[in-house]
Amino acid sequence: LHAQTPATLHGEAPGATIDPRIFSQFAEHLGYGIYGGIWVGPESKIPNIKGYRRDVVEALRALHVPLVRWPGGCFADEYHWRDGIGPRAKRPVKINTHWGGVTEPNMFGTHEFMDFAELIGAEAYVSGNVGSAPAGEMEEWVQYITAPQGTLADERARNGRKEPWKLPYFGIGNELWGCGGNMRADYAADVTRRYATFVKVPFGTKIQKIASGANGPDYNWTEVMMREAGRMIDGIGLHYYTVPGDWKSKGSASDFTETDYARTMAKTWKMEELLTKHSAVMDKYDPAKRVNLAVDEWGIWTDVEPGTNPGFLYQQNSLRDALLAGVNINLFIHHADRVRMTNIAQMVNVLQSMILTKDAQMVLTPTYHVFDMYRGFQGAAVLPLDLPKVWYGRDEWVAPALHGSAARGKDGVVHVALVNIDPAKAQHLEIALSGITSTSVSGRILTSDRVQDVNDFTNGARVHPVAFTGASVANGKLVVDLPAKSLVVLDLP
Ligand code: AHR
Repeated sequence: LHAQTPATLHGEAPGATIDPRIFSQFAEHLGYGIYGGIWVGPESKIPNIKGYRRDVVEALRALHVPLVRWPGGCFADEYHWRDGIGPRAKRPVKINTHWGGVTEPNMFGTHEFMDFAELIGAEAYVSGNVGSAPAGEMEEWVQYITAPQGTLADERARNGRKEPWKLPYFGIGNELWGCGGNMRADYAADVTRRYATFVKVPFGTKIQKIASGANGPDYNWTEVMMREAGRMIDGIGLHYYTVPGDWKSKGSASDFTETDYARTMAKTWKMEELLTKHSAVMDKYDPAKRVNLAVDEWGIWTDVEPGTNPGFLYQQNSLRDALLAGVNINLFIHHADRVRMTNIAQMVNVLQSMILTKDAQMVLTPTYHVFDMYRGFQGAAVLPLDLPKVWYGRDEWVAPALHGSAARGKDGVVHVALVNIDPAKAQHLEIALSGITSTSVSGRILTSDRVQDVNDFTNGARVHPVAFTGASVANGKLVVDLPAKSLVVLDLP
């Protein structure tokens, strides 16, 4: 165990409220993300609720997913919403030119998505097509979803939905600097102004417009978008993927060395710098922090599993990914005054997913359990948590070993999340409780024998949370023996 440096949890100074939407998800028409992963159709032998996999729906409901982003991603800027409404048998079959060149049957369209979001109890965040469709197409889509009356509302009713849906978030395209149209920042800002003008919802309702944000450290993008379009939008995105290697050879999801692990963790820690610097740019134009920095794509992106379609982005999910998720979520919580939505990529069977499916089988990934363990943080008020500065590294790759965040829920319970990324060294923590009178503590831990461990269809749920007995409260201190490579979430009533 490590030597001590002072640590304090400040209950007397609550900060920003953690928007539940920072625990949001992303479901794209990509590989088995939608078809097979969420949607199997009502005729399927796989148990389903009106076409949605029952096992997946139940797992997502249990997770309290606040919001889902759909239909892309890069798919959004080549999607034409009229292809996905009306009788399913009559919908056109297209090619998903961005992801694998496979057929897109359009069985999962606007009704199927909006009903899915309602079914799992989540809000909807729809991304419009800026890259390859006119602004009027986007305008009509929003009306089709939200209008209480009129021709588009009548058409929606004929297609099975009389009541308008709620649509609180709308994306003005996706990655306009890349697959969304390869635009330069100035041009993208002008296009965003133009398209945002036509995103209108009925009187008395609100929609938040999210501009396509920067690619990682492209601060100029945020600068230009805020300067030129900031007053017309409610949020600006940010996409940052943790790639263990480089884009040509990203590295295996479960077969990696300790140097690979340290590099991955050092790269994911970059999110702290990105949030700080993009926030600083936004502060110049929006000191009141009205505009949300929505990290609407994040997570680890590795090579696909051997033998799978490279365009399907199907990757395993290890304890490493769970710890990485904890590191990022703690950072989002630290920046909760500006970061009010994030969408991990993605929900099912794609990149750092919550759930993997294989025919009728389903496994919950280690990352699923992280989101489950953090549920108490949704809507809670941030409490400052000072932790000792301890470092972990291999070769030139170094990152803080200890990551934490804390918050007080509306019910008064204090939640403390601690991540120790060091694969070998435990940490002994003595955290002074300031302004917190709790006398007991309980919690759960997520760890495993190796950071490479995964949950799969052969070995089942190897990585899953269990009750944690390594914490106690005495004499105004929270004492925690935090094992190596672990994530612990504690509740202090
Ligand atoms: O999440 C996969 C892809 O990554 C998305 O479609 C795109 O927006 C990003 O480049």
